[in-house]
Amino acid sequence: MSKRKNGIIVAIDGPAGVGKSTVGRMVAERLNYGFLSTGKMYRALAWKALQAGLDLADEDALMNLAGKLKWGFTRGSGPELLVSIDGRTLIGEITTESVGKATSALARLGSVRAFMCDMQRGAGIEGGFVMEGRDIGTNVFPDAELKIYLDASPEARAGRRLRQLSEQGLRAEYAQILEFIVKRDAQDSQRKNNPLKKAEDGVYLDSTNITRAQAVEEILKLCRGAIEKAGQ
Ligand code: DC
Repeated sequence: MSKRKNGIIVAIDGPAGVGKSTVGRMVAERLNYGFLSTGKMYRALAWKALQAGLDLADEDALMNLAGKLKWGFTRGSGPELLVSIDGRTLIGEITTESVGKATSALARLGSVRAFMCDMQRGAGIEGGFVMEGRDIGTNVFPDAELKIYLDASPEARAGRRLRQLSEQGLRAEYAQILEFIVKRDAQDSQRKNNPLKKAEDGVYLDSTNITRAQAVEEILKLCRGAIEKAGQ
């Protein structure tokens, strides 16, 4: 494979709530690479579709909307590319519960996925990039120099989420969070189009019993090997 201009591509896939974003951002920071959390793009379209009152199963209407929007990425002080549409950078408005639910409905649709994949390839193709999602190593960049499947048991993910919420002063039920996580896992891994799964040549990293900082170190070790192998 020919060398990329800015370094290797690190693809991180895995289920909801495993910490792909936090870990990916930290890895990107340490490597001085860019970072994209691809779920934000699906969330952005869902947010806009809800505003427009669209049926989330109406593939034509959603594609029509997606094609009309002016998509962009803005880079802040850190490594992360934030998604913008029509000049508005989207942050808190796309992380709500209702947007999350709508996102998972439209992320099933083949033409929506193809549209997002094209934009994700455009953002990362020159390398020097960490990208996280559900299908980065299997579909967006099957030729990524390093593919990680970051996993943790549903119970560990639910426990972490509960701690996160209580740190923010929010109350939640462990059982309810666990149920939500198990449901999201099933939705993401059983869909027809680009389901969540480990790439055949990907590295499986179970973070059930390690901290996020340890996961970062583990991935950085693998990155160094991949960078050397690629001659980057
Ligand atoms: O990672 P997240 O919670 O922001 O993802 C939101 C939804 O988008 C989730 O239901 C999975 C879906 N998604 C996807 O199907 N493919 C991706 N590459 C990223 C996210």
